[in-house]
Amino acid sequence: MAEDLGARRAPTGTHDVLWPASWRWEVVLSTFADLVQRAGYGLVQNPMFEYAAVFRRGIGEGSDVVGKEMYEFPDRDGQLLALRPEGTASVVRAFVQHHPVTPWKAWYATPAFRHERPQAGRYRQHHQVGVEALGPTDADLDVEVVSLADSFYRALGLADFTLKINSMGDGRCRPAYIELLRTYLVARRTTLCDEHQGRLDANPLRVLDCKREACKQATATAPRLIDHLCEDCAPHFARVRAGLDALGVPYGLDHRLVRGFDYYTRTTFEFASAAIDAAQNAIGGGGRYDGLVEMLGGPPTPGIGFGIGIERVLIACDAEGALAATPPPPAAFVVDTAGGDAARDLTAALRRAGLAAERAFDGRSMKAQMKLADRSGAVLALIVGPQEQVNGTVTIRPLRGGGDQRVVPLDEVVGTVTAMTSEGDTVP
Ligand code: HAM
Repeated sequence: MAEDLGARRAPTGTHDVLWPASWRWEVVLSTFADLVQRAGYGLVQNPMFEYAAVFRRGIGEGSDVVGKEMYEFPDRDGQLLALRPEGTASVVRAFVQHHPVTPWKAWYATPAFRHERPQAGRYRQHHQVGVEALGPTDADLDVEVVSLADSFYRALGLADFTLKINSMGDGRCRPAYIELLRTYLVARRTTLCDEHQGRLDANPLRVLDCKREACKQATATAPRLIDHLCEDCAPHFARVRAGLDALGVPYGLDHRLVRGFDYYTRTTFEFASAAIDAAQNAIGGGGRYDGLVEMLGGPPTPGIGFGIGIERVLIACDAEGALAATPPPPAAFVVDTAGGDAARDLTAALRRAGLAAERAFDGRSMKAQMKLADRSGAVLALIVGPQEQVNGTVTIRPLRGGGDQRVVPLDEVVGTVTAMTSEGDTVP
């Protein structure tokens, strides 16, 4: 029974997205591509799996994503591989392998795989669009990256979201801060949640991010990293803030924003939708990772990027009533009851002229074809019956918005349909 079901269902935590619901995915992807291409980012395509070491080294053995969630397996040659749980480490591995000239600005759209407990907004295969920019250390690049994400949400029609930013410092200021925090937390160990009483020593920063009330209270007055930034990190963060102010990108400071991957340095940020359930409301996040290229064996090269969860963005769109879900209807539906040649040739001619055109197959009756034409949402039905075939004509019947039926010569149909369906034109 279970096996039988297994062959007929997508695995737990995964989803099929079928037409026409997938129309919104097309809009999300093309909106993102347009936006980031204008800012000089080019598409990068990576494998869906890497040697597991890429993620173990890049994201960090102690992170939840690597320690608890990664899909890792030896392949048939015994090589240890992992499905990518995120985009950044793979993109940086590709940078190290191909050493393109910097600044190198890349964007991607990718599935990501994490063996999490599935719930609304949390999946085992989710999808991200993201950018990674490598080379410059300039804080203005941080501003560019953060404001691109902000513009993307707004381009989709979202407005009810917040941006939180923080600085994680760097190799100079963070170690001393971690010791300060550790001392503070060790003195309060028994007041922390069960998990962090044990994990505190491995990485005290994670306690700041804990959503449980005990840890929240225990860290309420903890020392803040932004008060202990070194003389390089402090002005960097000040410039980031000034840039976001200058571009009118609203944000709040959150000294608890310690994202779950080990590669982050300096600027980190997260966007949360205020319109969806608080547990899964992160619609995107990212930050600087100035040491990651070196961690993966490349030359010292700073970098920054973000990943945006497409499913979460669509949930936020639903909650805000943004991003219409209906694909545009075809301009014309060819109804052919005279043998099918016209349907074949006319749809091809219309499509070559740049118009969306559909047709029926399998020699359906006039009534059935008209029903399909109507269901397709087409603006016009182009009818070719035995009489039209003899006369070399096509009957154009408006299916939407009224207007009279008319008969035109076959060789004028494409021009007439173009004129009748182009914006602003009224049916003559
Ligand atoms: P992340 O915060 O782990 O960052 O994921 C980015 C976004 O992916 C999240 O904000 C969320 O919208 C979505 N997401 C994550 N996990 C799931 C899930 N299980 N189900 C549904 N959506 C999910 C990264 O992955 C970093 N690589 C971002 C980055 C790029 N940092 C620098 N460059």
